[in-house]
Amino acid sequence: MSLSVIKKVQLFKDLKKGEIESILKLTSSKMYYKNNTILSEAEKFSATFYIISKGKVKVSRMDDDGKEIVLSILGPGNFFGEMSLIDGLSRSATITSVSDTEVLTMRGKDFNEMLKVYPQVTLNLTRVLVARLRQSDAQIKRLSLMNTIGKVASTLAGLVPPEKKRRKAVIESLPPVRDLASMAGISESSVSRAIKNLVKSGYIQKEGKKVIINHFADYEKMFC
Ligand code: CMP
Repeated sequence: MSLSVIKKVQLFKDLKKGEIESILKLTSSKMYYKNNTILSEAEKFSATFYIISKGKVKVSRMDDDGKEIVLSILGPGNFFGEMSLIDGLSRSATITSVSDTEVLTMRGKDFNEMLKVYPQVTLNLTRVLVARLRQSDAQIKRLSLMNTIGKVASTLAGLVPPEKKRRKAVIESLPPVRDLASMAGISESSVSRAIKNLVKSGYIQKEGKKVIINHFADYEKMFC
């Protein structure tokens, strides 16, 4: 591993040169060509830890319909495979190389030993996991916001009479927020916020009680 990559490895932050050298002795290098599965959420437990020295990998999961959900993209200096080694459960995600990728692998036994011997590594690992948790929290917030907007948007689409389903679809008189809230199954304040968001993003226009949905076909594809 080159010096410039070693400097990027968050796990090695604040370690002495000799300590890093001792840890690197526990690793071996492995190459994966683009689009290879490095580890899979379907696979049985495999006790290996990985540090990326070159290239990029995708962290993903499959939803119930078999659609891929990308959780993160990791590059040089990042690591993966620590979760199973810490809790002994199966792999939490699938890791795929998105370019030719070189990794350093470490046996699970050595990984756990490293955490015991070098408290600084454990602290660094915790910091990265906290950063990942913060990212996931932000993603949950974004998704629930999307969910609220989606619920209101599809409720509005359902209010367009069939004869008004044109490129610019029109709802002549929007029901009171109270009714929209019960139709969408969310609070009144969430409905008001979602409508403001839809106006701000240009999906709809509001003129008093009249609502115009712009590009109705695209809007339906997106939200319904
Ligand atoms: P492990 O569960 O052993 O195998 C899959 C790996 O994907 C996991 O360890 C983590 O290293 C990594 N991983 C899982 N979720 C995320 C995430 N949200 N962000 C970054 N990496 C993740």
